[in-house]
Amino acid sequence: MEVKIFCPATVANVSCGFDVLGLCLDTAGDEMLVERTMQPGVRIKEITGANLPLDTAQNVAGVAATALVEKLHPPYGFDITIHKKIKAGSGLGSSAASAAGAVFAVNHLVGNPLTPKELVHYAMQGEKLASGAAHADNVAPALLGGFTLVRSYEPLDIIEIPAPENLYVAIIHPHIEVRTKDARAVLKDRIDFKKAVIQTANLAGLISGLYTADFDLIGRSLHDVLVEPLRAHLIPHFSFIKKAALDAGALGAGISGSGPSVFALAKGNEAAGKAAGAMAQVLEGTGIDYEIHVSNI
Ligand code: HSE
Repeated sequence: MEVKIFCPATVANVSCGFDVLGLCLDTAGDEMLVERTMQPGVRIKEITGANLPLDTAQNVAGVAATALVEKLHPPYGFDITIHKKIKAGSGLGSSAASAAGAVFAVNHLVGNPLTPKELVHYAMQGEKLASGAAHADNVAPALLGGFTLVRSYEPLDIIEIPAPENLYVAIIHPHIEVRTKDARAVLKDRIDFKKAVIQTANLAGLISGLYTADFDLIGRSLHDVLVEPLRAHLIPHFSFIKKAALDAGALGAGISGSGPSVFALAKGNEAAGKAAGAMAQVLEGTGIDYEIHVSNI
């Protein structure tokens, strides 16, 4: 018995929701094949598209699947083949796609004893290996789709947030690597009280805008006064890329996860396409290769 799955890319933080908000793309992701075997345990059989460890204990999919197997104690084992399409260090939830995919597939192959929400905890163990922090803002949207909010980490409380039908995301992925560990190292231990107030208000505004399909409110709320200022220098031409998206009519734009990808939200497919094109234009002639994605949320 085997299952072949699509493991979606995700945008974490979405400007004002550091480590708590995320959204799922349906046009970019990895593929994974998981086979149920009589030999117990979890093995990484093959990885294409990336040079990643095959050692189960060093592989995010292996660690996440093992965490779930230790919980469920199924009378089988699992062989995992991963076709990586999301680059590591892209800011598009590459490790989360592997971790979420692995637990989703294992759960499926043992008859779905856990809900997708219950799987988030196990997928987070893979994230811990990848970045040193068991954040859930990529694995939750990868498992549940759409927008998700991590209302609390202890205890884990994941909330699915509806998105207006016509909300699209445009992404530019400059082909440079920013390791999440490094992007977290530039953050400060303490934050300014006034900035915390602004960030809280924007996060509340964004959630409210998503529930009420108020595109203008979504746009007004897409600001990050805490993290983006500390990370912007890690992304070449970031301020120009962001400005290009806004000038092209995007509702708002910011760093996707820990970068270097940049996302923009837009009303409608056409507006998102324009934002993606405008962001791409900034990198033309700079010598930095890139790819763009547009997805409904
Ligand atoms: N919330 C995480 C961060 C996402 O920004 O560090 C990393 O993909």
